[in-house]
Amino acid sequence: MQVSVKNLKRYYFEKLVLDIDNLTMEKGKITGIIGPNGSGKSTLLNIVAGLDDEYLGTVEYNRQLINKNIYRKMTIVSQKPYLFRRKVYDNIEYPLKVRKMKKDKIKMKVDDIIERFEIEDLRDKRAHLLSGGESQKVSLARALVFEPRLLLLDEPTSNIDPESIKIMEREIVRFNEETKGTVIIVTHNMEQSRRLCHDIIYLEEGKVGY
Ligand SMILES: Nc1ncnc2c1ncn2[C@@H]1O[C@H](COP(=O)(O)OP(=O)(O)OP(=O)(O)O)[C@@H](O)[C@H]1O
Ligand SMILES: [Mg+2]
Repeated sequence: MQVSVKNLKRYYFEKLVLDIDNLTMEKGKITGIIGPNGSGKSTLLNIVAGLDDEYLGTVEYNRQLINKNIYRKMTIVSQKPYLFRRKVYDNIEYPLKVRKMKKDKIKMKVDDIIERFEIEDLRDKRAHLLSGGESQKVSLARALVFEPRLLLLDEPTSNIDPESIKIMEREIVRFNEETKGTVIIVTHNMEQSRRLCHDIIYLEEGKVGY
């Protein structure tokens, strides 16, 4: 899904925290967003995710304004992921259940992603008891399981050990290559952005720089 932003301004009270004239993130690519703390990365991602509509300007998805159909084809993994107070398995199957997928297909998909993420040991754990890093892994698995057309990731590997980073990066790349799903990933890790991203956007004080 192509994402195109025009004349975007976001104020918090009097302060302008995001100011982007024109920015397009290409369909089927992995685009990285990097920049210092407070430069507006999460603000931009939340706006694209449809979680924040208190902005000026336009955001288009394949040249359309946001609508129900687009909304259900995208998802965000936030900096502080939110999981239900239920088992990890139930959390991961949730996006498939709400999309009314058949039971046996759901089980196949959830089992498959649990195996690929190597989180079999977490399967029956209650999600609110997970560590920060475990929650991030589970929430990426939950985002990938329904094969969104647009995947928004806000520092998905910030609390993650090196071995698990490898797994998560592998699965992000696999998702992009196999489904051609578009990915926008905020990261502080330059090496990671070089490993994963086709394009990189630099944000500084709310503006796109180079
Ligand atoms: N709810 C809010 N109320 C007021 N100001 C906010 C709010 N959320 C963010 N800001 C301000 O907007 C600016 C951009 O914040 P944002 O969270 O987008 O930064 P970021 O680039 O994601 O930073 P980080 O790398 O620390 O995650 C910051 O100056 C922040 O203080
Ligand atoms: Mg942020």
